[in-house]
Amino acid sequence: MINVTKTHLPDKEKYKSYVDRIFESGWLTNNGQFVQELENRLSEYLGVKHLLLVSNGTLALQVAYHALSIQKEVITTPFSFVATTSSLVWEGLSPVFADIHPKTLNIDPLKIPSLITSNTSAILPVHVFGNACSIDIIQAIADSSGIKVIYDAAHAFGVNYKGKSILSYGDASVLSFHSTKIFHTIEGGAIIFKNEEDYNLAKLMINFGISGYDTVSALGINCKMNEFQAAMGLCMLDEMGSIIEGRKAVWIRYNNAFSNVNNILFQLQNLDSTQNYSYFPVIFPNENKLIEIRNKLNSKDIFPRRYFYPSLEQVPYLLDRQEMLHSSSISSRILCLPIYNKLDPDTQDFIINAIANNN
Ligand SMILES: Cc1ncc(COP(=O)(O)O)c(C=O)c1O
Repeated sequence: MINVTKTHLPDKEKYKSYVDRIFESGWLTNNGQFVQELENRLSEYLGVKHLLLVSNGTLALQVAYHALSIQKEVITTPFSFVATTSSLVWEGLSPVFADIHPKTLNIDPLKIPSLITSNTSAILPVHVFGNACSIDIIQAIADSSGIKVIYDAAHAFGVNYKGKSILSYGDASVLSFHSTKIFHTIEGGAIIFKNEEDYNLAKLMINFGISGYDTVSALGINCKMNEFQAAMGLCMLDEMGSIIEGRKAVWIRYNNAFSNVNNILFQLQNLDSTQNYSYFPVIFPNENKLIEIRNKLNSKDIFPRRYFYPSLEQVPYLLDRQEMLHSSSISSRILCLPIYNKLDPDTQDFIINAIANNN
């Protein structure tokens, strides 16, 4: 069975040697040596400061909202994984959607200003499929309104924008290290803060707000990364070069093969940013065509994913339905193709033929 991605499992012997050391030390969690080592190595690899590891990307978002005192309304995109919206609702915040640009698939910055009210405390854009948002325009809007920017950068591991890490923009950026992601720690995530004070507060918050043996100095929750997760991350980091090269080869093969196919569209890339080749989304002219292609691929045990479906203004717990024309249209017509290191060339050929000859 071929899925949209295949979890990369690093060298087993190396992982076992970390596990041996965890067993020897008996230290399984609570800011252990491997969590600290991974924080240092990731900060260096990504070129960022103030990076905090947590147990998953969803809680990373939620802790970021708390650390930055986000309240009431947050302007966000309807075209994302459900956690972008559900994390807000779970925290009692109201998502206010700005529709996407139909070509970049990211939040359309021109739709943001008219949505800002005295209740707006932040903008939560997503670098969809690792494609950088209109960062400069979003920052200018936030600055002129005195509101915060938190990037859901779950897909943007290792991406640079204008020569520096994409994670260094905004007040905070959040990564997911779920096992489907290009870099993973089984489950896991990270928050990268612009300001050291926000980082320090979040560091307290992820461990119940405990600041010493007998001291609780902030409201907190438990979302610490454990040593087994960190060990997986350390092993993964050693293999990132080949992981990205392997995905890039598949990405380029699809891209070349589809360059003359005229009834499908692709995400317009932000030319100021690099890519990590995590996803290969294809936009069909209509939903029927998507279903036809998907059925053809399914018949060969190939399972592309409808990322993202449904458009998030349609989730059942949002009672105030905001109509999002571009997001709902794209979401009904987009399919992410299987892409991972060592994806079998015959499978790539089958996918390419199914899509290229779809008239
Ligand atoms: C855009 C986006 N935001 C948030 C998340 C949530 O991350 P996690 O699964 O690590 O909780 C994901 C991923 O799964 C995602 O794709």
